[in-house]
This record gives sequence, C-alpha cells and structure tokens, in this order.
Amino acid sequence: MHDQELAGIILAAGKGTRMKSDLPKGLHLVAGIPMVELIGRAMKSAGVAKPIIVVGHGGDNIIQALGDTYDYVWQHEQLGTGHAALMAADILSTHSGPVLVAPGDTPLLDAYTLKKTVESHREAKALCTLATTQLENAFGYGRIVRGATAQPERIVEEKDATDAQRCIKEVCTSIYCFDCETLLRILPTLGNSNSQGEYYLTDVVSQISKEGGTVVGTIFHDPSLVEGVNDRWQLALANQEMMKRILKAHALSGVTLNGIESINIGIDVEIGPDTVIEPGTTLGGKTKIGSACRIGPNTRIVDATIGERSTIQMSHVIEATIGNRVWVGPFANLRPKTVIMDDVKIGNFVEIKNSTLKQGAKTPHLSYIGDSSIGKNSNVGAGTITCNYDGYTKSRTEIGDNVFVGSNSTLVAPLTIGDGAMIAAGSVITQNIPADAGAFGRARQETKEEWAALWRKKKQSTD
Ligand code: UD1
Ligand code: MG
Repeated sequence: MHDQELAGIILAAGKGTRMKSDLPKGLHLVAGIPMVELIGRAMKSAGVAKPIIVVGHGGDNIIQALGDTYDYVWQHEQLGTGHAALMAADILSTHSGPVLVAPGDTPLLDAYTLKKTVESHREAKALCTLATTQLENAFGYGRIVRGATAQPERIVEEKDATDAQRCIKEVCTSIYCFDCETLLRILPTLGNSNSQGEYYLTDVVSQISKEGGTVVGTIFHDPSLVEGVNDRWQLALANQEMMKRILKAHALSGVTLNGIESINIGIDVEIGPDTVIEPGTTLGGKTKIGSACRIGPNTRIVDATIGERSTIQMSHVIEATIGNRVWVGPFANLRPKTVIMDDVKIGNFVEIKNSTLKQGAKTPHLSYIGDSSIGKNSNVGAGTITCNYDGYTKSRTEIGDNVFVGSNSTLVAPLTIGDGAMIAAGSVITQNIPADAGAFGRARQETKEEWAALWRKKKQSTD
C-alpha cells in the first residue's frame, strides 16, 4: 500500500451466538446483501481500495461469499476487538496514512459517515478520530470520556464503568479512523486486565491520548450507526430500516410505490421514473427496470432486465431479459435465459425457459416454451407445449416469423418450423415444417348424422 491511501479493517470474527444460526453473523442478509459486505461496500465508496476483513467463525463461508475484492485475515480465537485489529498488522505493515476500522455487524452504517470520519481526521491531523453518537439509553456501549480540553481521553466499557461514567450519553460506535503507524505500534502493547479479560481496541484511544496525540470525537446524530445486529429480531429491524431507505430513494427519483409495507427492493435494483410498483412485489439481485413500467401486484423479479412501458402482473421473472411494451401475466413464470423482445405478449399460466420470443410474438395462454425461439409476430395458441426433453437430452424448437401455432399443439423437439407456416389446432408435430406450409398432425374428424339422438333413445329405452 502507498502513502496516504486509505486502508480499512472490518471486524467480523465474532460468533454471533444469539443469531442461533449455522451461518456466520456477517453473512445474514440485509436488503439481500450480507451484512459484512454492506460494510465493505461503504468502505469502498469511502475510498478504501481493498478492505481487510478479520474472519473467525464461519470465515471460510465469508471468504467464499465475498470473493477476492477483499483481503482476509484470520483471528482463530476471539480475544477482543484490539486483538482482532492486530490480525491485520502484516498486511498494513507497509501502509502509512489513515486506516478506517468498523464492525461487521452494523449494516446501517453508510459511506457518508465513513467519509466524514476520514475528513475530520485529515483536517485535524489527528492520530485517532472516533465516530460517536449520543443515546438516551447508552446501556451496553462504551462511553466516551472527554477530558478538560473536550478531546476524548478514553472509552470505558459498560462493565468497567463507574456509576458516574455510566451517565455519559456519548457512546463509541466502533467506527474509527487511525493513523496506521500509531495503531500498529500500540496494538501489540495492549493488555487485557479488564472485566472481560479481552484486548480492547478502545484502549488504543487512551494510549494515544496519554502520549499527547490528537484524538477527535465526531458526533453523528444517527443512533442507527450503533444498531448492531445480534439476534434475528434486530436483523428484521435492520432490514426494515434499510428497506425504508431504499424505497424512499426510489420514490424520490420518480418511482410510484403502492403499499410500501409489502414491497421489497434489493439494494442493487435500478428502476426508471414513472414506473409503478404494486403491492406484494419483490425485486432482487441486479434487476434493472426501465421507465413507465407497471410491476405487480404479487410479482417476484430477480436478476432481470426490463425495458420501458412493460407490464408484469402476478408473475415470477428470474434471470430474464424483457424489452419494451411487453405484457407478462398474470401467473407467468419466466425462467433463466429467457429473452423477450419488444411488443411481446405473454399471458396467463405460461412458463418460458431458455427461449427467445422475437418482436410482437404472442403466447397468450397456458403454454410451456422451453429451449425455443419464436419468430416475429408468431402466435402460439393456448395450451401449446414444446416437448424439449426426452428423458436424456434437451432439444430445440425453432419457430420462424409469422407462424400460427394452433391451440393445444404439441411440438416435439428437435423441430424447425418455417416462416409463415400454420399448424392445425390439436396437432402433435414431430417433423419439420417448411415455410408457408400447413401442418395437420391429428386424426381426421368423423361426424355421424343423428348419432347423438339415436344414442339417447337407446339409453332411455333401457332405463
Ligand atoms: C464494542 C466496543 C464498544 C462499542 C460497541 C459498539 C470494544 C472493547 N468495545 O463493544 O465500546 O460501544 O462495540 O457496537 O471494542 N470482533 C472480532 N473479534 C473479537 C471480538 C469482536 O472480530 O475478538 C468483532 C465482532 O464480530 C463485531 C465487532 O468486532 O463485529 C464488535 O465486537 P462486539 O463484541 O460486538 O463488541 P462490543 O462488546 O459490542
Ligand atoms: Mg456489539
């Protein structure tokens, strides 16, 4: 690392016993993203190129989930926050300049707070800058003890505090900016003679202060900064708060949200102005929705791209690409690798997988379209099924432009149907059809005059 670059450490080795989970705490999701990744993202947008994550419990899972845009160091025994930070010493040994430290379980921490903390730190040429907040009920938190000059002198943990110190409302958020060299010099000297027998990161502050170094305490009027997640109820509350922030941002950028209680939007979702989101809708992953669409009610869209002026009602859309002025639903299931071009209509009870529907194509009712391509303006009648699987291999159905597939047709793949062909309703199609041909894959109808009347007569006479 180079001079004056910003480094960052995320403390995420703790077990999170109260989550009662097989997952490490940091991997529980808030707005669809693991908590520790949210902190990582905040650090990155505050200018940390590659945050260092201290892992312990479930560390392998964290490393696998977050990938290689982070550095990882192990803390095999959780001996305290000071000991955790010390684990990053090797990576930081060549770094001089500021280093941010944040806990991995405060998902509501935002980039703004980190940026401000670094700014105050640089302005004051401090050796340590603390982000603090004030709480009416500060129980459980480290209290900021300010000295005669009003500079923070030390942080006293609840369990180590005197009655007078417990009355202090200003608390430690565990978000710090340190001068890296100073931090690395003091960390190995920390002791653990306190009520918890732990190496406290907070003790670095009192050491700097004792040495006469500058410590700044920046007060943020946002108690959510310390709202750490320790159990599933706090996780639910953090999700609720995060959802409120996300929904508000969309609303203010021109999206209508009907029924915010039942709308869930992931943090990476993009939505264009004048789009209306109806109740019961979940939008997740890297979904992108254009302007003036109508989404929902009761719709789930994950990792999909949707153009402008499209309508998706009561449907599931996963990893699909949808164009402009498309109509989907109600009750459609668009599965991965589905590409729907402009002006297509997909009606009720239609499932589509790994298929392309070109401009103006229609599958209005009750169909399964798998491993297929449907050409421009082709109409696939109600109840049409592509038989893409013979129990061993998947095969494709290629349908040209302006094809008319009669209702209740069974298209047995592999199959190619030329432009302008017509298929009679109720056909079982097993052979390719050339352009403009008509295909009749069904038994010829036999009609017997008077048959019904005679049948009824016979029934009545035997009664
Ligand atoms: C810490 C602060 C306290 C502050 C509070 C804010 C200390 C001594 N106290 O207390 O002043 O008010 O945070 O939330 O720092 N961790 C490790 N390894 C460890 C211990 C902890 O990685 O050995 C991680 C945890 O996973 C967690 C973070 O550090 O993400 C904070 O640890 P936690 O045990 O919650 O600290 P607190 O006791 O809450
Ligand atoms: Mg905590």
